[in-house]
Amino acid sequence: MLFELIYRSEADTNVSDDDLLNILGKARRFNSKNELTGCLLYNDRHFVQILEGEFNTLNELYARIRKDSRHHNIITLHMKEIASRAYPDWTMAFKALEADDMKSIKNALGISQFKELNSINEESPISKQLFWMVTQSIF
Ligand SMILES: Cc1cc2nc3c(=O)[nH]c(=O)nc-3n(C[C@H](O)[C@H](O)[C@H](O)COP(=O)(O)O)c2cc1C
Repeated sequence: MLFELIYRSEADTNVSDDDLLNILGKARRFNSKNELTGCLLYNDRHFVQILEGEFNTLNELYARIRKDSRHHNIITLHMKEIASRAYPDWTMAFKALEADDMKSIKNALGISQFKELNSINEESPISKQLFWMVTQSIF
């Protein structure tokens, strides 16, 4: 069963650009070996990540991600079975969103911070829209 998962979290205060590169390097190697795909967004020391993959593989990785000391206050926004992947070619895309990007997001979705993303019954349509928007118009 193929699932998609979205969470948001706060980066640890010590996290540097090198840490981000390190996270992405390891993530891409692991994800490509384990048929995991997705996209990681970063703004104002907050992460939002979408991950797609087989249910068990996805949950095992998420358990490790949740224990990672480079971020905290991890909040699951969305967990849903899917028929096919939205990002089949991305082992882990990455985008740091700047103030201008956030302005476009505010205009389209009404949120100016990742902290404002919430979940209703384990689904978060607005989080899905965020990735759709970023990947369509900002990447
Ligand atoms: C925001 C964030 C996103 C991450 N995304 C992934 C990912 O997509 N795939 C991955 O293998 N590791 C990812 N990691 C790294 C894992 O948390 C963890 O360090 C890695 O799986 C190695 O686990 P281990 O130290 O228990 O061996 C991420 C870490 C952070 C902080």
